[in-house]
Amino acid sequence: MSEFDVVVIGGGPAGYPAAIRAGQNGLKVACIDEWKNYDGSTAFGGTCLNAGCIPSKALLESSELFHRAQSEFAAHGIKTGALSFDVAAMQKRKAGIVKTMTGGINQLLKAAGVTALQGHGRLLPGRQVEFTAHDGTQQTLTARHVVLASGSTPMALKSAPFDGQRIVDSWGALEFAAVPKRLGVIGAGVIGLELGSVWRRLGADVVVLEAMPAFLGMADQQLAKEALKHFKKQGLDIRLEAKVTAARVEGELVQVEYTDAAGATQSLTVDKLIVCIGRRPNTTGLLAEGTGVQVDERGFIKVDDHCHTGVENVWAVGDCVRGPMLAHKGKEEGVAVADRIAGLYAHVNYAAIPSVIYTAPEIAWVGATEEQVKATGRAYKVGSFPFMASGRARAMEAGQGFAKVIAAKDDDQILGVHIIGPMAGELIGEAVLAMEYSASAEDLQRTIHAHPTLSEALHEAALAADKRAIDMPNR
Ligand code: FAD
Ligand code: NAI
Repeated sequence: MSEFDVVVIGGGPAGYPAAIRAGQNGLKVACIDEWKNYDGSTAFGGTCLNAGCIPSKALLESSELFHRAQSEFAAHGIKTGALSFDVAAMQKRKAGIVKTMTGGINQLLKAAGVTALQGHGRLLPGRQVEFTAHDGTQQTLTARHVVLASGSTPMALKSAPFDGQRIVDSWGALEFAAVPKRLGVIGAGVIGLELGSVWRRLGADVVVLEAMPAFLGMADQQLAKEALKHFKKQGLDIRLEAKVTAARVEGELVQVEYTDAAGATQSLTVDKLIVCIGRRPNTTGLLAEGTGVQVDERGFIKVDDHCHTGVENVWAVGDCVRGPMLAHKGKEEGVAVADRIAGLYAHVNYAAIPSVIYTAPEIAWVGATEEQVKATGRAYKVGSFPFMASGRARAMEAGQGFAKVIAAKDDDQILGVHIIGPMAGELIGEAVLAMEYSASAEDLQRTIHAHPTLSEALHEAALAADKRAIDMPNR
């Protein structure tokens, strides 16, 4: 029986940082991860590195470069011959990035003195952990503390069951060997938009079926409206209030039936169908009888504000607990828990977690949407600045979108920042820092931004909140 100060179950972006920080804090740590790739290989990094954030961004970058070469190079005076692409080469590049990054995690765990164990972990009563290696051998570990970081898996849709070939989840959609001629996507959420964009840019006819009447309901609606306009222009056929009633594989094709906004039955024939209607916490086989750890009705492990499960020294972090399913949220929770275990101060500011959708234009926000601020009844002011008026954005041939700052009228505190435009995911970092320090719009106004940069748009939006923008007329 091996004894550890901390055993972490799950080696994704919530689990491996918890293990590394616990190791840095001088504790004896084991991290158990059971991830297996399609080819049977094992790897740390969880969904994010193997089948999520990293491979999707690799394909978004390749497809965006192809699209820009096709549609923007001419404006720069660059002449190209007939352009073509090689999906196999794109996939090979993506696989290479994933392999390097996941291999890097093994090195990081080693450097932090963490015992990396590959196989299944199951919490037993009394903070014992049963570890079953991939070859079936079992051992029981004892731990002073256990951190559960078992992540999430794609939700299935009864009316459109996955077959792994033609009706696939997001992982399957990252592995297509060729561009489907007609692609159906169920769910116009983050995955639907990112992966829909990848295959659209490479030539697929993409139809996105979204059950809700509002597009990107969780985002600021001014931003969502702008985004919808651009996506439609790019050829993403987004159909709102579309409720899928059946999807069947028939030979080489998938036949989809749905009811439209008017309640009429519609049908759609596609070559591939991606079902991306959200993810659910993965707690299958994680908790033995009698551990005392509670899960809620949706399967999330119940925790308090400090990620404690209520069972002495048992913690849970990342996608398997409440809050947004984002890698950076899980990472902060994992690190915070490892510090708490070591008796150090830790805090996760849930009010300042950025969201980014890596489409083109990119979409990013932090804090409250205008709709949310309005609902609180607090008086507020809004400043926006269009990238069309940014010299740098124009030079980049990327003048779409805007930056928007919402601040309180009473004390000028920044309540939310919403950006749609070039590099929005990078630009939002400044807003997150500002909100982390409870900055006012005036603080942003008085911060010098280099010229010409995209970040000037955020500066000007903050100025516009007080009708003091310089590079556009104030209304
Ligand atoms: P996971 O990454 O799911 O890792 C959990 C790990 O634990 C897995 O390796 C799993 O095999 C293992 N495990 C589970 N149970 C056990 C057990 N009992 N024993 C041993 N091991 C176990 N988020 C972003 O922030 N930015 C993005 O750009 C982004 N892009 C995404 C794109 C796609 C296509 C998808 C699907 C997701 C994306 N996400 C993104 C979400 C992000 O991947 C997740 O929020 C993140 O991976 C959650 O981290 P986690 O460690 O909680 O869980
Ligand atoms: P999501 O929650 O973002 O979107 C799911 C969409 O499907 C919603 O718009 C929902 O209304 C719709 N939907 C639900 N049931 C439906 C049905 N039966 N028919 C049609 N539409 C239906 O979930 P998604 O896209 O699967 O992503 C899962 C998680 O992964 C997200 O929570 C997100 O946080 C994370 N992620 C983050 C990324 C990023 O940070 N850039 C990228 C990709 C995923």
